[in-house]
Amino acid sequence: MMSRRDWVLAAGSLPAAAAAAAPKDIVIASSNGERACARAMEILKAGGDTLTAVIEGVTINEQDPDDTSVGYGGLPNEEGIVELDASVMHGPTRRCGAVASLRGIKTPSQIARLVMEQTDHIMLVGDGALRFALAQGFRDENLLTEKARLAWLVWKQSLRDGAGHSNWTDGLDAPVSRPGSSLRNQFPSVDEKTLTWALEVAVRPPTGTINCLALNVKGEMSGVTTTSGLAWKIPGRVGDSPIIGAGLYVDQDVGAAGSTGRGEENIRVAGAHTVVENMRRGMTPRDSCMDCLKRIARNFGDDRKRLARFDINFYALRKDGAYASAALWNGAIRDGKLARRQFVVNDGPASRLEDCAYLLERR
Ligand code: GLY
Repeated sequence: MMSRRDWVLAAGSLPAAAAAAAPKDIVIASSNGERACARAMEILKAGGDTLTAVIEGVTINEQDPDDTSVGYGGLPNEEGIVELDASVMHGPTRRCGAVASLRGIKTPSQIARLVMEQTDHIMLVGDGALRFALAQGFRDENLLTEKARLAWLVWKQSLRDGAGHSNWTDGLDAPVSRPGSSLRNQFPSVDEKTLTWALEVAVRPPTGTINCLALNVKGEMSGVTTTSGLAWKIPGRVGDSPIIGAGLYVDQDVGAAGSTGRGEENIRVAGAHTVVENMRRGMTPRDSCMDCLKRIARNFGDDRKRLARFDINFYALRKDGAYASAALWNGAIRDGKLARRQFVVNDGPASRLEDCAYLLERR
C-alpha cells in the first residue's frame, strides 16, 4: 500500500488537499498591482491566457509615468538613463523569457515575452535587447519623465565628498546655499510634495518593482516581474527581476512565486525557485516565503542592524489557489507611523489589499 508520503509525491508533489482542489481564477501582485490584477482578472474571466493576463496587467504600470519603479517614468541609473528589467514565465508551455538593462522601450515585459516566443534564447540584455525590440516594431522613446529627472538631479546634488563638499553648492564658484534653503532654492518651481518625495528617494534609493502571478480555472499558471531596478544604479546593474529563479519562477505542477525589494539579496537565495521548491515539498505558501526570508537573514548572521537597511517581499501562488506574501519587515516608518507591508489579491469582483506575513518587527 502507498504511504501518505508516496501518495503526496505521486500527486505531483503537492499536499493531498492542494492536489485535489479545483483550480480557480486568481491573481496576486505586489502592493502597486491593484489595477494590474483587475485587468488580469478581466482577461482570465474572458477565457484569456494566464501570461497574456499578467502582462496586460503590468503594462498599465509600465506605461504609467507616475509609477516611478516600473517602465516609463522609472527612476534612472546614475547617469540619468532609465534601464529596465523584466521576466515572464508561461506555465502551460514551461517556457520563459527575460530582458535586462533595456533602454528606450516602455514595456519590457512585452519584449521578454517576445524573447520567449520568437527566439531560441531566454535572456537578451542592453543594446542587443533594444535592437531586438526595434526589430519587433517597438519605438525607441525617452523614458525619463520630468518627475524622475528632478529626483535624479536632487540625488546628484545631495552627493558630498569626504569633506562634505558638493559640486553644486558652496564651492569657489558654485552658488552658496543660504541657511535652511538649499533644496527649495535650487528647485524654486517644484511643489513641496514632489520635493519631499525626491529627497526621500535620493536618500533611500528604492527598488520598487511589480510582480504579478495568475492561476485560471483550467489550472494554468503564469507570472511576470518588471522593474526599473535600483534607483541611481551603476549603468548595467541587473537586479533579480529578470533572473528566472530569483525574481520569478513558475512550475505548472506546483505553483508560482516572485519577489520585489532588494534584488541582490534575492539573487543570493534564488528566491522564487526556493519558494516554489518549498511548496513542492509540502510547505504552505506562507511558510515557503518565510523560509526564504530566513535564508536571507541568515546571510547577514541574523544581524538586525544590517537587515534594517533593506526590505524584500516574496509572493507565492500555489496550483490550488492558496496564496501568501511575506516581507522581511512588518512595514516601513512613514511620518512617525508604521505603514504595514501589503499585497494585492483579486479572486473575483475586485482587487483588495491584504497584509503580508513578516519575519522581523519594526516598532
Ligand atoms: N527587485 C528589483 C531590483 O532589485 O532591481
